[in-house]
Amino acid sequence: MQEHADRTRDNDTTHPPAGSDQMNTQENSESSTPAYTMGYSDEFQKLLGRRSAETHAAHLLPHLGPGLRVLDFGCGPGTISMGLARAVEPGGELQGIDMEESQVEMARAAAAAGGHDNAIFQTGDVTALPFDDDSFDVAHCHAVLMHVPDTQAVLAEVKRVLKPGGIICARELIGDALIFAPEVGDLAGAVATFLKLLAANGGHPQMGTELKRVFLEAGFSGIQAGASFESFGTTEDVYFYHDFASGWFFSPTIVEVITRHGLASREQVDDWRRMLAEWRDTPGAFAAIAYGEAIARKP
Ligand SMILES: C[S@@+](CC[C@H](N)C(=O)[O-])C[C@H]1O[C@@H](n2cnc3c(N)ncnc32)[C@H](O)[C@@H]1O
Repeated sequence: MQEHADRTRDNDTTHPPAGSDQMNTQENSESSTPAYTMGYSDEFQKLLGRRSAETHAAHLLPHLGPGLRVLDFGCGPGTISMGLARAVEPGGELQGIDMEESQVEMARAAAAAGGHDNAIFQTGDVTALPFDDDSFDVAHCHAVLMHVPDTQAVLAEVKRVLKPGGIICARELIGDALIFAPEVGDLAGAVATFLKLLAANGGHPQMGTELKRVFLEAGFSGIQAGASFESFGTTEDVYFYHDFASGWFFSPTIVEVITRHGLASREQVDDWRRMLAEWRDTPGAFAAIAYGEAIARKP
């Protein structure tokens, strides 16, 4: 893990492993997500920083209460984990796990700052959880299954650590319902290219629509599936989303990857960048990210 952290600091994120067709933006060849599309740039961290349990795990909160032991797998910087930890106080515990040390450090800092001494974070892989069988009441993830190539390997491991009757809860992207309105030029082409990048890295751009099926296949029962949006409706939100999309998708790292793999030319990318700015400056600009969400139980 230390070796990976050092590689991250070197910013050596653009070169796929020899013999691979993956379009790496963040390489971690030791993990079950060897090519993580989103990376850990400041731009992406700003998007994660807006999240909370209240806004991004509202479907789970009614199932939480004092004394429960909750796992947040693929917790990232822990912005959602904080509210999960709060929801099981007093007497409950939140365990967060992520493959990236820098994310775990951010989550630990957030827990210390918020006084959540029932929130514990560690590095690890979601397909090899460092926990005993039958030891959690609830296992939650947000925007994680969409990135891990082997979905059933994750779900089998989560099922192992859940107590009988325990709850699994996931909220994942529905890539076909990523909205930029009104339509500006071929901005939809940029969205389609992002989804191709995700798929090329072994991810699942439509995982939000597949949760019911993959939960069934993994042997969970009592599945409740639904969908919801994260929307960007105010002028401030539109500027934020523009700056995020511009700073992340049009970063030198991503542009190098998508041009090297022939997904788009630099001219096309420059056109998209202009269209995105035009969209931001359109009086009726609105954007939304669609997520599928599902809750089920271990029999
Ligand atoms: C899109 S971020 C979501 C973070 C957080 N759940 C949220 O929604 O704010 C996905 C996270 O999953 C982690 N991740 C991806 N594959 C993983 C794996 N195989 N094992 C552990 N963590 C993984 C990444 O490091 C990243 O922090």
